[in-house]
Amino acid sequence: MSTAPRFHDLTIARVNPEAAGAVAIALQIPEPLRERFAFQPGQFLTLRAQINGQDVRRSYSICSTRSRLENRHELEVGIRPMEGGVFSNWASTALKAGDTLAVMPPDGRFVSKKPRALHRVGFAAGSGITPILSILTSTLEDQPESKFTLVYGNRRMDSVMFNEALQDLKDRYPSRLTLIHVLSRQAQEVDLLQGRIDGDKVRALIDTLLPVGSMDEVFICGPEPMIEATEAALLEAGVRPDRVHTERFTSPTLEALTPAQRLAATESHKVSALKGSVALTVVLDGKPHELRMNREDRVLDVALAAGLDLPYSCRGGVCCTCRAKLMQGSVLMDKNFTLEPWETEQGFVLSCQARPTSDQVVVSYDER
Ligand code: FES
Repeated sequence: MSTAPRFHDLTIARVNPEAAGAVAIALQIPEPLRERFAFQPGQFLTLRAQINGQDVRRSYSICSTRSRLENRHELEVGIRPMEGGVFSNWASTALKAGDTLAVMPPDGRFVSKKPRALHRVGFAAGSGITPILSILTSTLEDQPESKFTLVYGNRRMDSVMFNEALQDLKDRYPSRLTLIHVLSRQAQEVDLLQGRIDGDKVRALIDTLLPVGSMDEVFICGPEPMIEATEAALLEAGVRPDRVHTERFTSPTLEALTPAQRLAATESHKVSALKGSVALTVVLDGKPHELRMNREDRVLDVALAAGLDLPYSCRGGVCCTCRAKLMQGSVLMDKNFTLEPWETEQGFVLSCQARPTSDQVVVSYDER
């Protein structure tokens, strides 16, 4: 048996400003935690903070490489302020070197599944560059025979996040890194590089620069419509589905509620945890917790309202931090953007999305 992931207090080594108000936050990883924070390029960290009295968690992709963790004992995440983004606006303005942040160990499936890929391609838009930067840099540093092509969508060149880091990589690996900037609000000499990354753009890139057969592995990260259009165009053109990996960012659904609505939702989940028609057992750190819940409620909401300290981040079916194993009973998930077929076959569920369909449900957070 393993145990559910926990937050660890990490010290901020440095906060570096990036384009358009974004920041890159470097976290020091002390010796006892180095093994726990080992990661694969493309994974993310879940950060937690109390902001205006609210417990806020958010997942951010690691943008640094494994060599930096090994040599300088640091992990770096990139955060771009979003309109109405509680965590991103706070983090990009308030955090400074020496502050402490609660951080959960690396997680996520947006990683290379093909270790010997000779040509990897990334399609990124805006802050979607963060996980792809780590994959791209690691590919160039660790695999001298591999090439990387980055198609990167932004409004203008001055809003390109990590532009300096990308230019440095281009200088270091001129023949192995191809950078293709697609700009929506800045004139470009070539039509192909003007506009947004959408289905037409991807088809045009395949026709001119990126033949289907040359792409051993493709990584896509950006806003939802960009991910869907890019993935659809690639699959339509004949790229094998197992070679295409996507990563979605989302905001927790509860944060969209007003404080009063949030309180009402929590109160109703508390009542459900005491009086609901379904018997729910939550196993955490080897201990079973007996609760009740209603069929329309979700396992994570009820168990959190009952006071259990469970791992979660997005609450939107995207990050997988809330993964648990269904040991007894049945549930239906509203959304699942992340669990793979083998995981659902083995009974893993996203507890933030799981609603019971049987009168008795047992879930374990100890089966990772
Ligand atoms: S908390 Fe992110 S998938 Fe459930």
